[in-house]
Amino acid sequence: MSSTPKIRADVEAARLPMTLPRLAEKKRQGEAIVMVTAYDFPSGEIVDAAGADVVLVGDSAAEVVLGYPSTVVVSLEEMLMLTAATRRGVRSALLIADLPFGSYEASDELAITSAQRFVKEAGADAVKLEGGGEAQLSRIRAIVGSGIPVMGHVGLTPQTATALGGRRAQGRTAERALAVGEQARAVQAAGAFAIVFEAIPAAVAADLTPLLDIPVIGIGAGGGTDGQVLVLHDMLGIYPGRAPRPAKQYIELRSPMIAAVSQYAAEVRDGRFPTAEQAFSIDPAELQAFREGLQQR
Ligand code: KIV
Repeated sequence: MSSTPKIRADVEAARLPMTLPRLAEKKRQGEAIVMVTAYDFPSGEIVDAAGADVVLVGDSAAEVVLGYPSTVVVSLEEMLMLTAATRRGVRSALLIADLPFGSYEASDELAITSAQRFVKEAGADAVKLEGGGEAQLSRIRAIVGSGIPVMGHVGLTPQTATALGGRRAQGRTAERALAVGEQARAVQAAGAFAIVFEAIPAAVAADLTPLLDIPVIGIGAGGGTDGQVLVLHDMLGIYPGRAPRPAKQYIELRSPMIAAVSQYAAEVRDGRFPTAEQAFSIDPAELQAFREGLQQR
């Protein structure tokens, strides 16, 4: 317990900022890459202090932070605000922002403009976009060509889940698994520096990963990828009910959070909060003078 601050200081001292070459080197060396989402200053600071290699301001923010029913609803402005807040907390990890639905599909020009806003206004190091079709490949080439690194994302792509038949695992027949592999290769050829595999069979992901030169980060894709990504709020158990299938809940924070706020509410209601510890004092002579001043008004 008492060694925690020292361990943290040692970890921080030993950490160099994550860069694209360092990420590529991790794949070559077979070192697992740790990616996790964050959406604001405290969560960015926490995941960075915990040693994440890559922090993603995912459009999962739509659901877990903003309470929307799906990721397609979140706006570019909302994602920019969340990314800028996260940037202020992240010091060492590579910070990637998700391009939200509607911010890149229409044209290469729109994709470049949106990506540039994430870098210039919000401080992102790179952006991520979903899909491996012709249009998305063109957007990846355009953004990379403008000097901004892009992470790809294939398999289950939540922004277009309706077209995929819902939020379900992808690549579960030989033909579809081969198609996922083709998309991944095309995303790599378009210039992406890394790629997310979401919700594809573990054996398929394990076979495809060594065929790609770029790091593959899995979620619901088994242990054979180069790294893993989880949604922070799923890991921390901030929701009622079970975490989604690909997630592992490491702690259940919702109950202690409710308990803490309930205790505060009870203490306010029965006068136990605040105490002298939370209050500011005033010199007795100044107080006396203040009270006399009050009388005279
Ligand atoms: O939005 C998100 O959080 C993501 C990850 C699950 C990869 O895209």
